[in-house]
Amino acid sequence: MRLINVNYIDTEKYEYYVGKAIYNDGVLLLQDNVKLNDSYIKQLISKGINYIYVVDEISEGIEINETIPNEKLVEAKQVIKDQFNIIKKGKNIGLNMNIINNTVSELLDILISNRDISYNVNQLRTVDDYLYEHSLNVAVSCIYTGILLKYDKTKLQKLALGALLHDIGKTFVDPNILNKPSKLTIEERKEVEKHPELGYRFIYDNYGNEISTLSKQIILQHHEKWNGKGYPNQLSGEGIYELARICSIADVFDALTADRVYRKAMPIYVASEYIYSLGYNEFDFEIVKIFLSRIVKFKEGSIIKLSDGSKAIVYSQNKHMLDRPVVKLLQDKEGRFVSHKNIFIDLIEEKTLFIERQLENIFSN
Ligand SMILES: [Fe+2]
Ligand SMILES: [Fe+2]
Repeated sequence: MRLINVNYIDTEKYEYYVGKAIYNDGVLLLQDNVKLNDSYIKQLISKGINYIYVVDEISEGIEINETIPNEKLVEAKQVIKDQFNIIKKGKNIGLNMNIINNTVSELLDILISNRDISYNVNQLRTVDDYLYEHSLNVAVSCIYTGILLKYDKTKLQKLALGALLHDIGKTFVDPNILNKPSKLTIEERKEVEKHPELGYRFIYDNYGNEISTLSKQIILQHHEKWNGKGYPNQLSGEGIYELARICSIADVFDALTADRVYRKAMPIYVASEYIYSLGYNEFDFEIVKIFLSRIVKFKEGSIIKLSDGSKAIVYSQNKHMLDRPVVKLLQDKEGRFVSHKNIFIDLIEEKTLFIERQLENIFSN
């Protein structure tokens, strides 16, 4: 199985089967094992679904490890979407904190009981659902980091709730500005940068007693930077709550790994390098190192180019060296297709070989 951009699916030439059931707005669109055809692909594209899991010839035998079951992610995203939409429609005092807290607890329970502490970034995105998927992903990666920092459950719950709601203030910002494909004007930027305060105010005024100070401060401080060049209050260093420092890393990381109207998503390993390079100035560098330490850099099913020019597909992870997985050779360095030969390379064993980059598909260079 592998994750694929639907725009690269050619059903005339190859056979593809749905690897994991596909949902849209919480409704089942395609069941797993269904053979894909052109009309299905068109339907997916029309609904803004760009990435799906498929089983095809080159990805046969590859399993995708998901820490949180797909159905749970779909469910959690729907909760966030429904709750945020209540605010968008102007029914301010309508957030159901019980449902939100239950969602947070469920995510926590799954991640705490997960013994394999490596983090598979969720890359299933729908164009129109950016804010909800982003909120969910940020919450999940914050929980991971909190677990690595050995937080107890109460603190994790506060971290996760604040992270889930960190961008709630964006529901008060003009969507035309939020989704603008070109560069924002200074005025527009100022509008967007109001969202931490708008979100904090909204929660403080309406749900002040139901949400802890720490969670609220995550909403207010998630755009503050270690070097004091963030907003809204130009706080710096340890003057920023630790939980907000975690959220600010998770926030930027998730934004980088998503396709946006104004730029394409960065592959996970590139976003990781980027966060690392920003780390010293903009973030709490100690937390950056912890945050990045357990992220799976090249997921199972990713097509990659090796340093000798050959191409391969990531077969399984080496849990203690997440940038050197076991890969299966697809094309040798002379350009011959060899996937049928089942040649496996363990990049921990092959010490002089490394992954040069991730490819969109087997034909790209
Ligand atoms: Fe934000
Ligand atoms: Fe955000």
